[in-house]
Amino acid sequence: MEPGRDQESTCGVPFPGAPLPRERWTRTRVGLGDPGTPLDWVALFGRDAPRVLDLGCGNGRFLVASALRRPTMDHLGIDLVPPAVRFASLRAGQRGLAHCKFAWGDASEVVTARCAPSSVDEIHLYHPQPYYDADRRERRQLTPEVLLAVHRALRPGGLFVVQTDNPAYARYARTVLPALFSVTERPGAWPDAPHGRTLREIVARRKGLQIVRLEARRADLDADEAARRAAALPAPDFDANRARYGAGRRRPRA
Ligand SMILES: C[S@@+](CC[C@H](N)C(=O)[O-])C[C@H]1O[C@@H](n2cnc3c(N)ncnc32)[C@H](O)[C@@H]1O
Repeated sequence: MEPGRDQESTCGVPFPGAPLPRERWTRTRVGLGDPGTPLDWVALFGRDAPRVLDLGCGNGRFLVASALRRPTMDHLGIDLVPPAVRFASLRAGQRGLAHCKFAWGDASEVVTARCAPSSVDEIHLYHPQPYYDADRRERRQLTPEVLLAVHRALRPGGLFVVQTDNPAYARYARTVLPALFSVTERPGAWPDAPHGRTLREIVARRKGLQIVRLEARRADLDADEAARRAAALPAPDFDANRARYGAGRRRPRA
């Protein structure tokens, strides 16, 4: 467990919201079915509302806070690690949320194979695992294929947020996102979460690491042009080890 972290707080920053009496808890864990099964948001949430998807949601901190703040939007978080999904879904359920759900699975498969075109309003990717070993680089979440799938899944003008504290990952994201999105960089903390939107953001800031926050608006491109641009992008085969970037040096918190 990270220093300063207990079940309900990270480095002293409490998990968003508060548990309700048990009779008001909700079930927020969902199954996605077999690979390739289309994501049916209306069936999952029982309504047709704007949609937020978190790829690699970890303990669900961002998604639960967003759902508490934006009750008119449906929120779905996906993670590969079952304990993270259990933690997140329990916290959302204890808060009585019906519009925030979590599923175990491969978020890359979900976005590339299950999301209908123009079906999602926001997609978030916070602190994707850098994968330092060369033989695990193919597991990286941000790839040209995923970028193209995110572009396809988002509605016109939809938002893709990518955030990382890894300098090489940030450099890759800055290189590839502009091919399909209009990108702005947020220089400081999120106004809705001044201590950090996610567990990893809070921990990285505590360590003095530089956080890169990219807000990317879907460019208005037809499917053929988007595919052509994505095909020209480099694969994420960068070396994520910090030593190459002179890291180890602590920078001011961002
Ligand atoms: C460094 S953690 C960040 C978690 C959270 N987004 C945060 O910022 O605190 C990376 C997360 O991505 C998840 N992950 C990695 N690859 C994934 C994939 N293909 N699909 C879903 N989750 C994935 C990991 O299980 C882990 O929870």
